[in-house]
Amino acid sequence: MIKDAIASKRAEFGIVYGRRSIGKSSLLMKAVSRKGDLYFEALQNVSLKKQIDHFLYQLAEQTKTPRSVAGNWREVFDIVTYHTKTNRHYVVFDEFPWMASGRSELVSLLKYYWDNHWKKNPDLTLVICGSIASFMLKHIVHSKALHNRKTFEIKLPPLTASEAKLFFKNLRSDFEIARFLMVFGGIPKYMEQIDPRLSFSDNVDRLCFQKNGFFVNEFETIFKEQFKVVKNYESIVKVLSQKNCSKEEIGKHLKISSGGGLTSYINNLEQADFIKVFTPKAPFGASGKKQKNLFYGMNGYNFISIILSRTGILSNLILSLGCLIKLPDKA
Ligand SMILES: Nc1ncnc2c1ncn2[C@@H]1O[C@H](COP(=O)(O)OP(=O)(O)OP(=O)(O)O)[C@@H](O)[C@H]1O
Ligand SMILES: [Mg+2]
Repeated sequence: MIKDAIASKRAEFGIVYGRRSIGKSSLLMKAVSRKGDLYFEALQNVSLKKQIDHFLYQLAEQTKTPRSVAGNWREVFDIVTYHTKTNRHYVVFDEFPWMASGRSELVSLLKYYWDNHWKKNPDLTLVICGSIASFMLKHIVHSKALHNRKTFEIKLPPLTASEAKLFFKNLRSDFEIARFLMVFGGIPKYMEQIDPRLSFSDNVDRLCFQKNGFFVNEFETIFKEQFKVVKNYESIVKVLSQKNCSKEEIGKHLKISSGGGLTSYINNLEQADFIKVFTPKAPFGASGKKQKNLFYGMNGYNFISIILSRTGILSNLILSLGCLIKLPDKA
């Protein structure tokens, strides 16, 4: 899709998003091939001045021109316009939510520059990328300002089973690979942590339960990054790591009513891919997607369940896999 957009004869505006570590940057970087392509990656948690400095540093490195001076994003976008006015350019703004500091003003400016400058170059392909699902969905994908501007959109899915299988170099059986995928999902970064010479149980032990294991703090890190206040989100995930539940059941466990924000907590968790919704099978011709019939459960990335088990909650997942994971002493 990206290659087609770059080859097309009109200005293209793409949106690429997905959970952390799913391979967004790798995918976008693969398409960088020509002189004139520009790939910007924003920094997390830095001041506007540092963000702009970093942007200009990347611009100077990639265009092999002296470092420009700019005090605000408008001046930065003027410089980008200067460099991309004519000829073929593939321009990526990676980690856009960080570039925008989580606010929507930069989206308005983006719209202005797209409408008044960038879309006038039919050889330009602009891609906005980010992993903070709530920001990307609210301010980019469903943005009113960018309405009718986007020409393609990719929500990057996890690797398929056959893609993930390549990480195991024929060293593990299909059954064992299936276990890995049920626990870690097809997240490339997580696949890279697995030592294919070791069994499933030894890998889980090493990665999830040993001091400094890769997954020990992963849940907390990505959760905190996604949600400003994590308490209610964490409680919902804990309930769902035990069993799939309807919204009413979740509400009962947590003593929160729909009016108390439960629906929005659940929707945010679903959008961020932590949980998924199951629609009951409907008879032919009937829609099964009635709110009251929906069930929620953990998504494939169920390492979260394992991590939660460190605090004494033994996940159904571990039981159902029947694997010989060494459970830790209670935290
Ligand atoms: N298709 C793939 N096959 C194998 N490895 C991959 C693939 N895509 C990404 N990776 C690896 O997975 C890791 C994470 O990829 P990448 O940094 O592109 O993800 P991301 O979604 O941009 O992450 P972040 O949310 O942290 O920005 C990298 O080490 C990369 O080499
Ligand atoms: Mg990235």
